[in-house]
Amino acid sequence: MGGVARSELVAAVSAAGAFGFLGMVREPVARIRSEVEALRRRGFKRFGVNLIPAVTDRELLEAQVSSCIALHVPVIGLFWDIPFTLVRRLRDAGIIVACQVGTLAEARSVEHAGAHIIIAQGIEAGGHVRGECPLDELIPGIVGQTTLPVLAAGGLADGADLLTVLALGAQGAVFGTALIATEESFAHEYHKHRLVAAVSEDTVLTDAFHIHWPGGAKVRVLANSVTRGERGNPFGKTRIAIGADEGRPIYLFSTDSPLRSTTGDFEAMALYAGAGAGRINAVQAATAKIHAIAAQAAGLCASGVASGLERKEPASPAYSAHEMEDGDMGYATRDELLAALNELLEAERAGARVILRMTREAPQALKAIVVGLLRDEARWCGILTRTIHQLLGTPSGKTGTFYEKAMAISDMAERLALLYRGQGWIVRKLEGLLPRVRDDALHADLAAMLKSHRDNIELVALHSSEPV
Ligand SMILES: Cc1cc2nc3c(=O)[nH]c(=O)nc-3n(C[C@H](O)[C@H](O)[C@H](O)COP(=O)(O)O)c2cc1C
Repeated sequence: MGGVARSELVAAVSAAGAFGFLGMVREPVARIRSEVEALRRRGFKRFGVNLIPAVTDRELLEAQVSSCIALHVPVIGLFWDIPFTLVRRLRDAGIIVACQVGTLAEARSVEHAGAHIIIAQGIEAGGHVRGECPLDELIPGIVGQTTLPVLAAGGLADGADLLTVLALGAQGAVFGTALIATEESFAHEYHKHRLVAAVSEDTVLTDAFHIHWPGGAKVRVLANSVTRGERGNPFGKTRIAIGADEGRPIYLFSTDSPLRSTTGDFEAMALYAGAGAGRINAVQAATAKIHAIAAQAAGLCASGVASGLERKEPASPAYSAHEMEDGDMGYATRDELLAALNELLEAERAGARVILRMTREAPQALKAIVVGLLRDEARWCGILTRTIHQLLGTPSGKTGTFYEKAMAISDMAERLALLYRGQGWIVRKLEGLLPRVRDDALHADLAAMLKSHRDNIELVALHSSEPV
């Protein structure tokens, strides 16, 4: 996050085991150097620097890039109209390149250019928004088409969100807005407190904050006098200074968000916020925030499960030793197991995506049950993915066809009825698979999954038009 993410914030998230990017868009080389050195002095070696070529003067960009190469910055993040020659140059200099994209086409292009990591940014994101696709469509679309690791960005605020994007096939989650509201972020207190006070409906996508960026670029911000049109035409000729930062004027309609060093009319500045803003309820230490996100995700996964997300050891070393006999004994072979687990994963992912959609559209009375179901589906996707890895297989990036079928139904009660039948399909699959599973830990996981689906069937039946 430009302006907001300096060494203080990156150090705090790194200390928690996350990976931080210094937001250095348009910053002078002296600041990049001092921020990188500050991190290294504190013992942090793994971090990234984010640059945005499209909004940086050519000479400054060249100086920024040369300085990052000279400093051996381990990772560079790039965003917006990413020049392929730059990706190649950084790659050739031994730097890991992470490119944030908003469409599948852009993901393909940066992969072709040599990017190492794709950050898929959904329309829910705070700050500048590259594409128009919701995250739950973008991730499965990109994951299914690339061999690169994909991180999900946009509207994520807590551990349940982390679990959900992992369920959708992402390898990791990017948190922006959630980290503005931290003690270490360089955002102005006004911005932090407006975020804490916000509800989900308070963010809007607008092109009204445009000075410093290419025309038409949209940002997600908290609604304010500018987005409500009370400050006049954003595209008029005169520039009105409404504040200052380190001696530089801050203009009305500019993309500058208020920082600790900013003075002026904060209400009219760009108060960047992702769609998850309503779930950010306190200004916290960033380390505590990351720990809380991770603990919530792990907690959701762990309850009652033998091989939860945290378990590192293979599910059963004995499995491969017995694999040759398993077919003869009636147990599923490793290949059969992997095929069955991947089939379940695709079906669960489809269920998770349908339910994710329903969490937005469901009437208030259904919200709580739908959110509970989403957590379950996401949890099982996570556990299936981990189990497939433990069996040295490759988790499928596909989404089951159930998703298309369910989304074709607009009536909420009918869609719930289809979900009910979908859960029944999973139950039958598990009932068929369980007697063929030799490994105790895996058997316990799948039995827990079966129980959870049976419980959910009862719950869905209560709320759907399906006769029980
Ligand atoms: C205050 C703020 C500043 C941002 N600045 C940058 C930036 O300089 N470079 C960049 O690649 N993305 C930037 N972004 C976008 C983030 O990379 C990311 O897509 C976004 O924060 C994810 O959505 P979320 O804010 O809902 O978590 C910014 C986002 C925010 C909220």
